[in-house]
Amino acid sequence: MTIDTLQKRYEAAGQGHVFKFWSKLTQKEQGDLKNQLEELNIERVNRIYSKAVASEGEAINPNARTESIEPLPKGASDSVSVSAKAKDWRRTGLDAIARGEVGVLLMAGGQGTRLGSSAPKGCYDIGLPSHKSLFQYQAERIARLQTVAEIECSKPAGSVVIPWYVMTSGPTRRATQDFFKQHYYFGLDSQNVIFFEQGTLPCLTMEGKVLLETPSRVAVAPDGNGGLYAATRSPLSSGKSETVLSDLAKRKILYVHAYCVDNCLVRVADPVFLGYSIQKQADCAAKVVPKTQPTESVGVVAYRGGKFSVVEYSEISKEQAERRDSETGGLAFRAGNIANHFYTTAYLNRVDKPNGMKLEMFVFDVFPYTERFAVLEVERNEEFSPLKNAPGTGSDDPETSRRDLLAQHKRFLERAGAQVKDGVEIEISPLVSYAGEGLESVKGKVFAKSGSVEAAEELDALV
Ligand code: UD1
Repeated sequence: MTIDTLQKRYEAAGQGHVFKFWSKLTQKEQGDLKNQLEELNIERVNRIYSKAVASEGEAINPNARTESIEPLPKGASDSVSVSAKAKDWRRTGLDAIARGEVGVLLMAGGQGTRLGSSAPKGCYDIGLPSHKSLFQYQAERIARLQTVAEIECSKPAGSVVIPWYVMTSGPTRRATQDFFKQHYYFGLDSQNVIFFEQGTLPCLTMEGKVLLETPSRVAVAPDGNGGLYAATRSPLSSGKSETVLSDLAKRKILYVHAYCVDNCLVRVADPVFLGYSIQKQADCAAKVVPKTQPTESVGVVAYRGGKFSVVEYSEISKEQAERRDSETGGLAFRAGNIANHFYTTAYLNRVDKPNGMKLEMFVFDVFPYTERFAVLEVERNEEFSPLKNAPGTGSDDPETSRRDLLAQHKRFLERAGAQVKDGVEIEISPLVSYAGEGLESVKGKVFAKSGSVEAAEELDALV
C-alpha cells in the first residue's frame, strides 16, 4: 500500500493525526510506523470505540437503549443443584473426555492490573499451605480428571489426554511459558500444553483517537478476551502454520471448555458442564452462579433483544442491577457470568467467518449470534471465587480465594464421612480429588491437624 493510500484511509477514519510527525521521522522510523499502521484494522478499532461509548451511554441512560434487556425467563437455564440429571451429564462428559474429544482453553492474556502484580495472574500464590499457583491447581485438575476418566471409563492408564490451550498476550506470553517450563508443566506432558497469543488493539484517548507511544509507534494493549476467536486462527508462533483450530482438528477434539485464569475453584474440563452442553446439543454454553449483590463485578446472562447475551458489569444500569424479582425478592438479573464457556469445535470454526458478525472486545460478544445456546447454573461455593483485587481488599482477593478453596476441601472430607475439628485447615491436592471423589478412606475419621496432602494415604497423618 502506498503511503498516500494509507494516509487517506486513516484520515477517512478520523485518525489522520497518527501521521503528525511523519516528515520528521527517519526512513527506518517511517517504515516501522507504516508497517504497524498497515496491520491495524482501523475501521474495526473505530467500531469497538463506538460500541464501548454506546454501551457506557446506555448504562448511564437506559432510555437510550436500542434493544431491550430482560432477565432470563424461568426455564431458560438449568441448575446443577436441582436437576436429577447431574449424574447423567457427568457420565456423558466423562465419556467424551475418555474418547479424547475434549480440549481446554484458558484465557490468560490479562494483565491483572487490579491485583497489583506484574506477573501473569496464573503464577499467583494465594497463600495455600502448598503454595501452589493458580496454574498448578488447574494443571493438576486436568491430570486428575484424565485419571478419573481412565478409571471410570475403563481406559488404560495414561491413555486419556485433555489438551490444554493457553492463551497469552504480548505482556504475558514470555513469563507464562517460562513459568510452565520452570515447573515442568506441573507434571503434564508438554506436548499437550499449547501456548498461543492474542492480538493487540491500539490505546485510544477518551475521544477515540489512537494514541502514539512515540512519534513512530502506536501504543497498543492486548485486545481483550474477545481476541480469543481471532487468536485461535493465528499461527501458534511466527513462521508456523499450525493454529489452535488446526491442532484441535488434528487431535479430533469435538468440545472445548474455555475459562478464565483467576478462579481458584474452576472445574477445568468439568464433565458435568460438558455433558450438560452435549446433551442440550448446544453450540455454545455458559455457566452462571446466582449474583449476590447488585454491585458485584460480574456480568449477567440475560436476554438482549430476545437473544442470549451477557450484560457486562460495566454496561448494566444501577436500576437494572438493583431490580428485584417480584416473586422471589432476589435480584432479577441474577445469572452471574463466571466466564466458563462451552463450545463445539465446529462452532469455533464458523464463529469468526467474515459474514458481518461483529466480534469485538468481549469473549461473550458472540453469544447473541449463537443458534443453540445453553445456560447452566452451578453452586457458587463449589465453583466460583475469583481473584481480582489486591491483598487486604476484603473481597475477591487472595485471602478470599484461599478461604473458599480450603472451605471446599473441608466439605469434601465431611461429605466423605469424616469430621474436621474447628480451626483445622486441610489442603487436598487436586491430584487426589477433582471434585470430592476418591476420598472413601476418610470415612469415620476425625481430623485434628492442619496440613496439605499430595496423596490420599497422607491424610492419615492428620487424624
Ligand atoms: C470477567 C467477565 C465477567 C465475569 C467475570 C467473572 C469478560 C469480558 N468478563 O470479567 O462477565 O463476570 O470475569 O470473574 O469475560 N483476558 C485475556 N486477555 C485480555 C483481557 C483478559 O485473556 O486482553 C483474560 C484474563 O486473563 C482473565 C479473563 O480474561 O482470565 C477475565 O479478564 P478480567 O479482565 O479479569 O475480567 P473481569 O473484568 O473480571
